[in-house]
Amino acid sequence: MHISIIGTGYVGLVTGACFAEFGIFVTCVDKDRDKIEKLKKGIIPFYEPGLEDLVKRNTKEGRLKFTTNIEKAVENSLVIFIAVGTPPRGDGSANLDYVEEVAKEIAKNMKSYKVIVTKSTVPVGTGFKIKDIIKRHLEKPVNFDIVSNPEFLREGSAVEDFMRPNRVVIGAQSDQAIAIMKDLYRPLYLLETPFVITDIQTAELIKYATNSFLATKISFINEISALCEAVGANVNVVAKAMGLDGRIGPKFLHAGIGFGGSCLPKDTKALVKIAEERGVPLRIVNAAIEANENQKERLTRKIMEAFNGKIEDKTIGILGLSFKPNTDDIRESPALFIINRLLKEKVKIKAYDPAAIENTKSVFPQIIYCSDAYSVAKEADGIVIVTEWNQFRNLDLNKIKKIMRDKFFFDFRNIYEPEKVRQLGFKYFSVGRV
Ligand code: UDX
Repeated sequence: MHISIIGTGYVGLVTGACFAEFGIFVTCVDKDRDKIEKLKKGIIPFYEPGLEDLVKRNTKEGRLKFTTNIEKAVENSLVIFIAVGTPPRGDGSANLDYVEEVAKEIAKNMKSYKVIVTKSTVPVGTGFKIKDIIKRHLEKPVNFDIVSNPEFLREGSAVEDFMRPNRVVIGAQSDQAIAIMKDLYRPLYLLETPFVITDIQTAELIKYATNSFLATKISFINEISALCEAVGANVNVVAKAMGLDGRIGPKFLHAGIGFGGSCLPKDTKALVKIAEERGVPLRIVNAAIEANENQKERLTRKIMEAFNGKIEDKTIGILGLSFKPNTDDIRESPALFIINRLLKEKVKIKAYDPAAIENTKSVFPQIIYCSDAYSVAKEADGIVIVTEWNQFRNLDLNKIKKIMRDKFFFDFRNIYEPEKVRQLGFKYFSVGRV
């Protein structure tokens, strides 16, 4: 089967490379010439474990192609995935300009039956909107179907998530489209992956409901972490015991500095907006968003209060800039929030991240970037673990203590044992543990 993926961003590129790995002939289309030229040479514009190998191998074996020519790609494909960005507008709603533009382009170049699939996270009702746009822009009558096939890829483990998903969701109106989609995902049938076949609007909502629920779980445990601090309880133990209840499950119950990234913050706000437009209050999702802002605020205040408000001219070292480990993505990263606040207090910031320094430089050119955790700690008054990269889990704390000026240690991912760190002589602060 030949398919095309329009948009070679994060979702598009992972989807294209993984389908090629399944043995399908994939053409990835993007209007950014420079990006396409780089991709042809196997240069990936972002960091994602395993993706470069996949792209290089499938390109070499002739199953993966890159082009700026949408016309040819549409003509040669039975299935066309729309995987362009849906960035948030000022009011939290998703901006569908790119999706609509692509729908028009597809329509203009359609000469035979096609299945048009939305992979981008789009508001409920977008599938029908796309159908309408395509109908209006067809140059001659051609039969086609619309499918919603949301992605659930986590940055840092996107390839694994694609190859071994918890489920595949397919929303469609026609049996023919469903059969084609099932055929495309056939390798996953062999792994007994559950398939949820439903209508288009339900599939669209599943994505938002899933991400909003995950965000709610995180915000729940983060609010409990504040209460743990107030009553002297340990949030890690609370979360562990809660997670052992099969009805709750252990995942997404790690208290920390709050959720960030390109999906959870954007999708929660977009869902609230979708619901508002229909007069349906989503109080819980709203509260999850608010609690997340509050957690970033509360923990940043913790740093300032540790210094009794006299933080001006102190040097604080930030360990981890990406919103989570194994990615260079800094979108909505809590690290940016903390840095921004501390800079306002005239704090001197040093920072290190294994992958996200380049991206952060464009936001904060004025801070000092270091080559590892130890150069961050050198002559710092305090260090803050913001992202739980593996290399921060086993730091030589004796060495760090010796090279720091003062000994404030803020572990906002709870990766160290409070007692052990305090015994070494640090003034240690974490989340939901006293
Ligand atoms: C998320 C969804 O998991 C994925 O299915 C969807 O397709 C895109 O959005 P991603 O944004 O890559 O993926 O990251 P995820 O692993 O979900 O983490 C999101 C944020 O929550 C991170 O900032 C992470 O640090 C935080 N988090 C996660 C917690 O603070 N505690 C947890 O227990 C889990």
